[in-house]
This record gives sequence, structure tokens and C-alpha cells, in this order.
Amino acid sequence: MRQLAVVVLAAGEGTRMKSATPKVLHTLAGMPLIGHVLATASSLGANHVICVLRHEKEKVAAYVGEHFPKVEIAHQDEVPGTGRAVEAALEVLPAGFDGDVVVLSGDVPLLDVQSVSELLARHRESASKGTLVTCELENPAGYGRVLRARENLIGIVEQKDASAEQLEITEVNAGVYVFDFALLSETLARVGTNNAQGEKYLTDVAGMMLEAGQLVQAHMIADPWLVSGVNDRHQLSNVARELNARIVKAWQLAGVTIVEPESTWMDITVQIGQDAIIKPSTRLHGLTRIGPGAQIGPDTDLTDTEVGEGAKVVRTHGEGAAIDAGATVGPFSYLRPGTRLGSDGKIGAFVETKNAAIGAGAKVPHLSYVGDAEVGEGANIGAGTIFANYDGEKKHRTKVGAHARTGSGNVFVAPVEIGNGAYTAAGSTIRRNVEPGALALNPTPQKNLAGWVLEKRPGSASAKAATEGTE
Ligand code: UD1
Ligand code: CA
Repeated sequence: MRQLAVVVLAAGEGTRMKSATPKVLHTLAGMPLIGHVLATASSLGANHVICVLRHEKEKVAAYVGEHFPKVEIAHQDEVPGTGRAVEAALEVLPAGFDGDVVVLSGDVPLLDVQSVSELLARHRESASKGTLVTCELENPAGYGRVLRARENLIGIVEQKDASAEQLEITEVNAGVYVFDFALLSETLARVGTNNAQGEKYLTDVAGMMLEAGQLVQAHMIADPWLVSGVNDRHQLSNVARELNARIVKAWQLAGVTIVEPESTWMDITVQIGQDAIIKPSTRLHGLTRIGPGAQIGPDTDLTDTEVGEGAKVVRTHGEGAAIDAGATVGPFSYLRPGTRLGSDGKIGAFVETKNAAIGAGAKVPHLSYVGDAEVGEGANIGAGTIFANYDGEKKHRTKVGAHARTGSGNVFVAPVEIGNGAYTAAGSTIRRNVEPGALALNPTPQKNLAGWVLEKRPGSASAKAATEGTE
């Protein structure tokens, strides 16, 4: 069995992105472009996966190191061009490496494992020295064009070096190749920089190998999206829309109802159970997991949030939250990290929660802030309650016991505990612990100033209303 190395090119400047973030770290379906390509590269059973870096290499290397620790890093020097990048990668290979080198571009994110495997199989079966992926595009602008004499491949010409006639060619180079290692190294050493961009082009290798009488083939792929390169933000959003459509379709075919695919976005990392219903304008990000039969949306954004079986989440913004089976959330709820809602619990309209464990069957139905709290099972928090967790310097915790009933318009001044089964009266400010089963109330005596409106607001609608029917 021949050895295999996969090289991922990610050292380009990505100037067309016009961004402080390196191009390959721009995200697509929740993962940087380079993550998509490295995921493919890592699934080919290669002996080495090498990522070539230069521009903003610390940031990219940090991502690669964290998410793909087995990937080796090569550093490109100041000589620009994809050919130079591959040379840098080959230097990382141990002496005695012999076999095939697959080259992938860090900015061609949709190319899948199957397509690359087919490319490699074809390359090996035909004993080619080089095989390059090509595709027919309606609009080939920006890509290198595939040059043929009659049917025979003769090379690749870059857009910027192409004649008017060559620009008419619609078969493009996808920037994805397999080469024989020895012949690739030998040929790269001879590639110059005499072209419109003054770069050492990898694309020159194909033509030079052919000139030397070696077998080089084009492997045409029918689906243009698979070879789409991302050079600017417009292309990024086009590729993102297409990938999203594919992710949505895959979940539909797996038994998820997605009411309006066009307004639904899901990262590639999201998981959804069967018979879940995803309503319009819903966006699911990161490690979000939706349980079977759950209903999400409309107008909901969830990031790294777990939703249990049969739960309902309506018009909600959630991040780092867990919602257990059968619970209901929304509309207009804001779940911040560390929110945990127990099974069959409820977080209702205009409620914000953070670092809060709300027990099974417990309810926070209306207009409240629950921060740094534990609410016991079956408890009910009255409308308009504020968990005052912040003393201006530190955060403190509030504990509400199981089956407690707290009144409307309460303020719980943390740290404070309300015992199991305790009640608090409407309008209370709770500063001291409440023992289990007690009723806490701290009413300020109410004073009514009779006739105040008639005296201070004579002739007003209120004054009239106050006097009508009284004479
Ligand atoms: C390249 C191809 C072009 C092909 C297109 C497909 C060359 C010369 N041209 O053009 O034929 O149609 O891809 O998408 O190869 N890179 C480096 N080091 C560098 C320059 C680039 O590692 O010095 C990396 C980039 O980070 C990127 C990839 O190589 O991931 C492609 O570079 P880019 O500048 O985008 O090439 P294109 O102009 O798109
Ligand atoms: Ca490109």
C-alpha cells in the first residue's frame, strides 16, 4: 500500500475578504472554513495531514492545535504562491516518505470525503502522476482555466494570465489534486514566478508534468458547489446558503419537520431528534441538541443549548442552556449560560435567566430576572420578580425551596434562602431567609390621601372620573 500525505493550503493572505480575521477562520455553518477542510483531510486515512500556514499563522495554528491536534503544521516563507506552499508542506514529511500527496485548498470548504476518495482511487487505479479536480462552471470568473488540445489536458492557466480566448473556457481547476510525491517535489523545484502575480503557482506543475510526458488526468466533478472557492464575503454567504440548504434537507430526510427551510439556519454540529418541529426564522448553533418531538420557534436562536424530548421553545434567545423534557420556554425569553430548566418546567414571557437551576415542574411565568439561583421543583415564582444577585461588587446566590409560592413583584436580595413550601407576599423585598412553610411579608403601611386628585388636578379626566356618579 502506497503512503498518503494530505496537504491543506491555508497560508494565503485572503486579501479579498478585507478582514482582520484570516480568511480560513471565517465561519461557515458554525465552523471555520479550515475546519471543514481539515475534517475532510482527517477522514482519508492518511499517514500525514499537513496544514500550511503563514499569514496570521498564530491564530490559525491555535485553532488547528485545539481542534485537530494530529495535524502537522508547515510554515511557508515569504515566497508567495500555492506551489511554494506545497513545497513547505513536503519539507515536513519524514525522509523516506514515498507515495501520493493529496492537495486541498483551505478555502474550498464543501468538498466531501467521498469526492476526494474517488479522486484518489481514480488516480491510483490509472497509475497517474497527477490528477486534478475540474468542474464546468456557468460563470468561471476568478478560477484557473483547464487547457486542453482537442480532448487532451495540457495545463492550467490562471485568470490573471489568461488570454481573452482562454477566459472563454468554462472548465475550471478546483484547486484540489493528487500527485506522486517524488515527481511533485522534483517538478516544484523547477516552477518559477514569471507570471502576472509573481507567484510560484502549483498549477504550473500539471503543465510541466505533461510536457515531460507524464500521465496527468483531469477528474471532473459535476456538482459545482463541491468545488466552490471562498475568496470574498459574497462567495462566503453563497456557499453558506447552499450548505445550509443541504443540512436542512438532510434533517428533513431524517424525520425532522422544517417548516420554512429558507429562514432556518443550522450549524453542521447541531443534532435534532425525530419528529422535532423547527418553525420559521429559527437558527440553531454550535452544540445545540434538540430532542425528539420538541418544537422550536418561530424566531428562536439557540447556541450550545440542549432541548429535551417534547419541550417547546418559542421566540427565545438561548445560549449554554439546558431545557429538560416537556418544559416550555417563551415567548420572548432570554436564557443565558448556566440556565437549566427541569422537566415540565416553565420559563415564560419576558423572563431572563442566568446560571439558574429551575427544578422540575417549577415555573417562572412572567417578567422576571432569575440570576445565580436555584429554584426547587414545583415552585412558582410570581410575576415581575427580580433575583437581585449583584451587590455592585460580587454575585450572590438565591435559593428558593421546592413548592414555594412567591408573590408578584418580589425582590430577592441575595444571598438569601426561601425554604421548602414557603410563601412570600406580593410586593415583598426578601432580605432574610424564610423558614420552610412560613409566609414572609414586609409591607410598608399604605396611606391614602383622600381628595388629593380633586385638589391637585382639578378639572382633569381623572378628577372627573373620580367624581362622576358621586353626586
Ligand atoms: C487557486 C488556483 C486556481 C483555482 C482556484 C480554485 C493557483 C495558482 N490557482 O486560485 O487555479 O481555480 O484556486 O479555488 O493555485 N495559499 C497558500 N499560500 C500562498 C497562496 C495561497 O497557502 O502563497 C492557499 C490559500 O490560503 C488558499 C489556497 O492556497 O487556501 C488557494 O489560494 P488563492 O489565493 O485563494 O488561489 P485562487 O486565486 O483562488
Ligand atoms: Ca481561492
